[in-house]
Amino acid sequence: MEPDRFIAKLHSAYAARRPKSKQMHARAGRFMPGGDTRSVTFYSPFPAFMKYGQGFTLVDVDGLEYIDFQNNYNSLIHGHAHPKITAAVSAQIRSGTVYGSPAESQYLLAEALCRRLPGADKIRFCNSGTEATMLAISLARYITRRHKILKMEGGYHGSHDSVQISIKPPLAGAGPIENPYCVPEHRGVPPNILENCVVAPFNDSEITAKIISAHHRDLAAIIVEPVAGSCGMIPPLPGFLEMLRAMATRFKILLIFDEVLCFRLSRGGCQELYGIVPDLTTLGKIIGGGFPVGALAGSNTCLHHFAPNKTEFFGHSGTFNGNPVTMAAGLAAMTALTAAEIDRINQLGKKLRTGLRKVLDRLQITAQVTGAGSLAQIHFTERQVKDWRSAATGRTDLRAIFRLLLLEQGIFSATRAFFNISTPMGPTQVHKLVAASQNALTAMRPYIENTSPELIAG
Ligand SMILES: Cc1ncc(COP(=O)(O)O)c(C=O)c1O
Repeated sequence: MEPDRFIAKLHSAYAARRPKSKQMHARAGRFMPGGDTRSVTFYSPFPAFMKYGQGFTLVDVDGLEYIDFQNNYNSLIHGHAHPKITAAVSAQIRSGTVYGSPAESQYLLAEALCRRLPGADKIRFCNSGTEATMLAISLARYITRRHKILKMEGGYHGSHDSVQISIKPPLAGAGPIENPYCVPEHRGVPPNILENCVVAPFNDSEITAKIISAHHRDLAAIIVEPVAGSCGMIPPLPGFLEMLRAMATRFKILLIFDEVLCFRLSRGGCQELYGIVPDLTTLGKIIGGGFPVGALAGSNTCLHHFAPNKTEFFGHSGTFNGNPVTMAAGLAAMTALTAAEIDRINQLGKKLRTGLRKVLDRLQITAQVTGAGSLAQIHFTERQVKDWRSAATGRTDLRAIFRLLLLEQGIFSATRAFFNISTPMGPTQVHKLVAASQNALTAMRPYIENTSPELIAG
């Protein structure tokens, strides 16, 4: 079948089973640009509108049921409507939602997080991971009195100007690997912001160390995701985080670990997993138990600047910072997330990565499986994926097709073809995803043969 006809047929079968979603998408488009309010949740021909979630199950408005391996972009580690989180939130809501005043639940969640994270003596709450990285960078500039930040090519740290740089730079315009360009994500990022950024290649210790040395006098912070999530769920190569820690210490640059996504990998996050303690840690997603959240954690030396009972302090406000509903949900989520549960879902993640690898090998399709712990991703490329430049060689049309074929078999995932395991899941759900992947890849193999024969082995 012609490649275009294959996709058209897929889209029309998808649309035929989802008349209500189609109708809702059209109506939403009258009042919301593109019918959505979040760029990543859109996919062609139109996204399924969801109406119900329980545990690992999602049900859409047309009554189709899915196993949710996306979990609101890695934020619902306990799946949907976890009974303890629901009970904690219901109890809080009956007593009001936010007070414009401190509340006990704030320090209880702060204490729970400080007890887990090696790099956290104190916590500051906000409402998103975006705010957390914005705050971390501002604080680093305030402390060091320097202005530049160093970020990794392919690194995503939220949607504020300072980090909307070189997230997905086109390979042709990304510059030499020894000195990657600062490529703005869109025209709205002003030139002076670009001047205050330095970009380095994730996982390349030699080049990154040289770049840090060249710019160290101006660098306030190095911001890095220890496991590069949106870049492709790429673990750090041995020595890379160690090098960042050593260089940051040597040049008195603050090292920020963005653990918004990867905190889930161990009880004490990636800093515990890899044994490297950053100066500042940004958190979000799972620590809110399914409610909007962000947090900045760090040493007393760094965080004491926020203390408002001093003559000079770093002012930071937010109407809903530390709101008791999020705090109650977050505390219930963290309490339920024991080391044993993390270990169990990490084992399931490993099983998933092994299962996907076996299916690809069996079908003789060349692709890479990346991930760590409860995270996994497929990249349709011949290159070993270790940074943005290798991940960017992955075929995006293939992952979109793969995702659609999974949806048709009741597997909900992100267009990027990543998967995460939630605590309600067991081996059965992993087995179902591996089996559905086998069916999807079998169905799309002729398309791959047609459009990218280099990915067919033998
Ligand atoms: C590593 C990382 N940092 C920051 C963010 C931004 O978090 P939020 O979407 O809560 O603003 C994300 C979101 O996906 C993320 O993955």
